[in-house]
Amino acid sequence: MDIVICRNYDALSRAAARVVADLVNHKPDAVLGFATGSSPVGLYKELIRLHEEEGLDFSKVTTFNLDEYVGLPGDHPQSYRHFMNQNLFDHINIPVQNTHVPSGTSANHAASCEWYEKRIRDAGGIDLQVLGIGSDGHIAFNEPGSSLGSRTRMVTLTEQTIDDNSRFFKRKSDVPRHAISMGVGTILEARKLLMVASGKNKAAALAAAVEGPITSMITASALQLHPEAIVFADDDAAAGLKMRAYYDWIQKQSKKAN
Ligand code: GLP
Repeated sequence: MDIVICRNYDALSRAAARVVADLVNHKPDAVLGFATGSSPVGLYKELIRLHEEEGLDFSKVTTFNLDEYVGLPGDHPQSYRHFMNQNLFDHINIPVQNTHVPSGTSANHAASCEWYEKRIRDAGGIDLQVLGIGSDGHIAFNEPGSSLGSRTRMVTLTEQTIDDNSRFFKRKSDVPRHAISMGVGTILEARKLLMVASGKNKAAALAAAVEGPITSMITASALQLHPEAIVFADDDAAAGLKMRAYYDWIQKQSKKAN
């Protein structure tokens, strides 16, 4: 796993966006996996800037988002579809039909999850999956105990996640209790994983994910199983990493080698 520690959130966002942009420049019809939450917002802002100022072209790109709240239609202000439209899709030249977010309002969740997995396969699989990390160490909505082989399915959110995400809702009781989430197994099939972690409240989860044992109790630890995972963390999120000096050393050596 590559661990890149950046001095602040802006630097982290620019560095992470560079990885996405390099892929899209190299493979214009890339399949990108996107995440919601506040962590990747800076990355998306930077992609918008690269589109506007450097002509980064998304016209042939296909995207798949990690998750969606059960019960929220795509035009609900707290839905993840709405989040993606507002924070990225409305500002770049991606055809809306190329963007996929799991449906939170299907009459048959099991069938719609199966369809989502099939769409990913039919698109040729995900080239690069962007991930955040929950304060309990989850990726997407794969809460503690999610099988490392899990697929897209309906999950029940933990109280901690409901608390964490209640900041986006008027009342805590408005936060849905369930979500549709890509599974850990689905995520591990992406050809490359890119995690962004920012802020002190992520330090313990990130340390457990990167340096702790691989366990379904911290689903982000599954990144250790992936041959091409890169983590961009700011100083605060990196605060719990025991091997930090080594990660910095690796980055210094690779800069010298290039
Ligand atoms: C939600 C999302 C995750 C995200 C996490 C952290 O639980 N399902 O994909 O990583 O929130 O969000 P934030 O970046 O806002 O801390």
